[in-house]
Amino acid sequence: MKFFVDTAEVADIRSLAEAGLVDGVTTNPSLIAKSGRDFKEVIAEICAITPGPVSAEVTATDAAGMIAEGQVLRSIAPNVAVKVPLTEAGLVACRRLASEGAMVNVTLCFSPAQALLAAKAGATFISPFVGRLDDIATDGMRLIADIVQIYRNYPALTTEVLVASVRHPIHLVEAAKMGAHVATLPPSVIRMLLKHPLTDRGLEAFLADWKKTGQSIL
Ligand code: E4P
Repeated sequence: MKFFVDTAEVADIRSLAEAGLVDGVTTNPSLIAKSGRDFKEVIAEICAITPGPVSAEVTATDAAGMIAEGQVLRSIAPNVAVKVPLTEAGLVACRRLASEGAMVNVTLCFSPAQALLAAKAGATFISPFVGRLDDIATDGMRLIADIVQIYRNYPALTTEVLVASVRHPIHLVEAAKMGAHVATLPPSVIRMLLKHPLTDRGLEAFLADWKKTGQSIL
């Protein structure tokens, strides 16, 4: 399973990349606003430190505007994936940008039917938002299971399921068990995945015993 980091904070991306945990990056307009950085400048910087796809989202709402913005975003670096919303205009833009050779991430997916449409429009990635569904008392992980099953039924569909709006480790583990291709994770969730109290306790005990030996490795 590929891990994308869901952030526009360059320092976080750099440190997680050192541990081999970054296969790509996703951003959205809210994350760009939170970073306080210039959009194109921060995308260029992220692309330079990330070999995999870096999602940059259009903000036009009509197809022609999305296509024009997508072309500008693509010109920033070859690993930019243009992110478009799951609207009819978004799918028109997806089809056109994909036919020009762009990677396209179709975002704001909340139903299996929407995911099927995005795949037909040639999306490289479909981004179903699990956390936001959970927030309205709907089972977000059910959506992932449905999309994975539907795509598996039609091997000609090559769109990858990119699990988004991930809020905690159980979302990630369940998505991996279902066979989702990618999960995009906020840095805080990646760090939650690392933690286990028995790891901390075990390490503390080993170090205490090692100290008693009076030895050193170096
Ligand atoms: C990523 O592509 C999405 O924009 C992001 O995961 C949304 O997460 P949120 O629902 O926590 O804002």
